[in-house]
Amino acid sequence: MPDAGSVSFERLAGVYDATRGGLARGRGLAADLAPFVAGTRLLEIGVGTGAVAAPLEAATGCRLVGIDLSPAMLAVAARRLGPAVAVADAERLPVATGAVDTAVMVWVLQLVARVAGVLGEAARALRPGGRLAVVLAAPAGPPDEIDRIVRPMYLALLPPEGRRYRPELVVELARAAGLRLVHRGLTTPQHYGESPDEEADRLERRTAAILLDLSPEAFAAVVAPVVAELRALPRPGEARPRRAVHELLVFERELSAPGAGLP
Ligand SMILES: C[S@@+](CC[C@H](N)C(=O)[O-])C[C@H]1O[C@@H](n2cnc3c(N)ncnc32)[C@H](O)[C@@H]1O
Repeated sequence: MPDAGSVSFERLAGVYDATRGGLARGRGLAADLAPFVAGTRLLEIGVGTGAVAAPLEAATGCRLVGIDLSPAMLAVAARRLGPAVAVADAERLPVATGAVDTAVMVWVLQLVARVAGVLGEAARALRPGGRLAVVLAAPAGPPDEIDRIVRPMYLALLPPEGRRYRPELVVELARAAGLRLVHRGLTTPQHYGESPDEEADRLERRTAAILLDLSPEAFAAVVAPVVAELRALPRPGEARPRRAVHELLVFERELSAPGAGLP
């Protein structure tokens, strides 16, 4: 049973790559992650469409196994990665204890029901000295003209446990799971162009998971004013240069992780 509290991207599979930068974004993140890959047994937790996984395989020469809650996302991933994908919950990984050299998790922790449970399970799957590389979804760079309008809306929509976005909290929970922070930095900035109208269109099409189940009343109260503000910017159809940057945290599994069944 998938965890009822986690957010599956099942209804976003058809638009995911087109609205999140697709393989171009994946290649950039794979280049950031590849230097931290230790060993050959790779696991991507929340692999989605494989947009990061496929370039990561190419960059490292290693085969990767991917798991995700969403069969529709995995159907796209399977076209890129072959059969090494499985429907599974990050809190119950279908791998033996200590069987993984490197696990990666890109833009996933904000969606899971229990961050501590997911980090504990990743620690269980890793061999002692194995690594977990996490890219957080929250934007880390300074806000641009569009961000300044859109970010407060996302913050308002986050559940109270939205504090789980904070890197410090992730580091603290990881430490409790036996994962020691060995690197904290930012991903290489990715540059792209987007107009206020395009951002407004995406909001109206509800291509973000957090918008999918908003009631019409909540949408009218919280999202519609943001759409209007975006469309009221000067030359709303004109693309602005934008820049995406995210926190990258890399952990190493302690030689005896709590709950890992080691002496
Ligand atoms: C934003 S997408 C990121 C996909 C991929 N890592 C990438 O960067 O393109 C997040 C993915 O995590 C999956 N997901 C959410 N909660 C999960 C959980 N508890 N276990 C496994 N996958 C989960 C979603 O279904 C979705 O495919």
